[in-house]
Amino acid sequence: MDKRKAQLIVALDVGTLTEAKKLIKALSRDVEIFKVGSQLFTLCGPQIVRDLLKAGKKVFLDLKFHDIPNTVANAVEAAVGLKHRDKTIFMCTLHTQGGKEMLQRAVEAAAKASQAAGVKRPLLLGITVLTSDAKEDSIGNLVLERALLAKEAGLDGVVASSQEAAMIRQRLGDDFIIVTPGIRPAGAEAGDQKRVTTPAQAQANGSDFLVVGRPVVKAENPSRAATMILEELDR
Ligand code: C5P
Repeated sequence: MDKRKAQLIVALDVGTLTEAKKLIKALSRDVEIFKVGSQLFTLCGPQIVRDLLKAGKKVFLDLKFHDIPNTVANAVEAAVGLKHRDKTIFMCTLHTQGGKEMLQRAVEAAAKASQAAGVKRPLLLGITVLTSDAKEDSIGNLVLERALLAKEAGLDGVVASSQEAAMIRQRLGDDFIIVTPGIRPAGAEAGDQKRVTTPAQAQANGSDFLVVGRPVVKAENPSRAATMILEELDR
């Protein structure tokens, strides 16, 4: 099985800027990449992204764009514009359900905007099937179909559950990025996630990045929760 080392991304799924800042501070030594999703972005707007960049952190902007091609291209351009000095967001998400043209326009917009701004182009990731969707027999095929579409359209990778990671890795090669949410260290509650896995399993299945929200964010000691995950990945 693949010996790649997965990196931890903490999802800042909190309800206030104060809480987000407290978490970023508490995790500053352990975590390099933070995910800003629709809740926090709707609350704080671009400020939270710039604050993270200023703090030297990488930002995963998870707004799951899905609209007509022109609107998505403009949204991606705006996302690249969320920069601090020569740094912009590290990665962002788009729904593969939006179709090939939408995805291709996003790729073009990201490349053009990054070149104009003098920043590294963010990684563009396709959402295949949300991990909260219950597992059905056909889900593997659907995930694979959407991952292939993402690759054809020029995306860098996909967000997919650990269960599908091995299959995607095998079919789409070593360079295709796999980001896996629904991570639950032993003993953590699944919550609304239907296809959960442990950090070590996800890493063994070929995921490059593991997105962890509640098991760290809601922990009594978030830094300790993050450290335990990192230790599990090192073992
Ligand atoms: O709290 P939990 O660890 O379940 O958080 C998972 C994070 O990953 C959430 O921010 C959720 O929006 C995100 N996510 C997901 N499934 C996807 C894509 C993103 O759960 N397919």
